[in-house]
Amino acid sequence: MNSELSSTTTSALDGHLHVLNHPLASHIITQLRDTETQPHLFRLLASKITTLLVIEATRHLITEPKLINTPLEKHSGYALKQKPLVIVPILRAGLSMAQPFIDLYPEASIGYIGLERDDKTAQARSYYSKLPPLDASEVFAIDPMLATGGSASHALSLLKDKGAKKPYFVCIIAAPEGCNVLRKNHPDVTIFTAVLDRGLNSQNYILPGLGDFGDRLCGT
Ligand code: PRP
Ligand code: URA
Repeated sequence: MNSELSSTTTSALDGHLHVLNHPLASHIITQLRDTETQPHLFRLLASKITTLLVIEATRHLITEPKLINTPLEKHSGYALKQKPLVIVPILRAGLSMAQPFIDLYPEASIGYIGLERDDKTAQARSYYSKLPPLDASEVFAIDPMLATGGSASHALSLLKDKGAKKPYFVCIIAAPEGCNVLRKNHPDVTIFTAVLDRGLNSQNYILPGLGDFGDRLCGT
């Protein structure tokens, strides 16, 4: 069993954390990690893995019967019975996950939170926030990397200040340290991640990770 699968098994016991356990996800993540992967392919892979994540993260949405006519007969199908859905990418890296989410659910609204980690202290600094009212909405914060958990914790507090109840956090790579911080600071939040990595290095980068997601995405 590879390390990604053993992580999945461990985390599956914990309802707070959902890890994708899918061969396509492993295939995409390995390409994302590879230093040979250039920004144009990196963006495409980020979009593909987000599509897989959104399918998992929206599994709980409720449907209701809907009567329609197919070309051949009447049919009782299903449509989403849902309060408004809001996705909140955390700038800048989170932007890579917004379009694939919207492609699957075009009716979603989008809020934005701008956060930047200090290179030395890893403290998140907030530089932008534009959020719709969230009290009646299903809210998904999206950011590819959950490292120390400082950025995610900060963002989730902003969302709750705006009225979000039980928001979801969707990321591509999570470190155990960040998951523990979220569990402590936001026990009501469920995390969806494509992979749970080994841990952080002394500069608070995820290992094995993929480096700085924003830089690799933007080619900076
Ligand atoms: C990255 C990432 C998260 C944060 C995770 O963003 O997208 O927001 O780091 O680290 P943490 O869990 O230790 O807070 P970064 O601050 O590098 O900004 P960027 O998206 O603008 O590149
Ligand atoms: N942010 C990133 O982009 N990568 C890491 O490994 C940690 C935080």
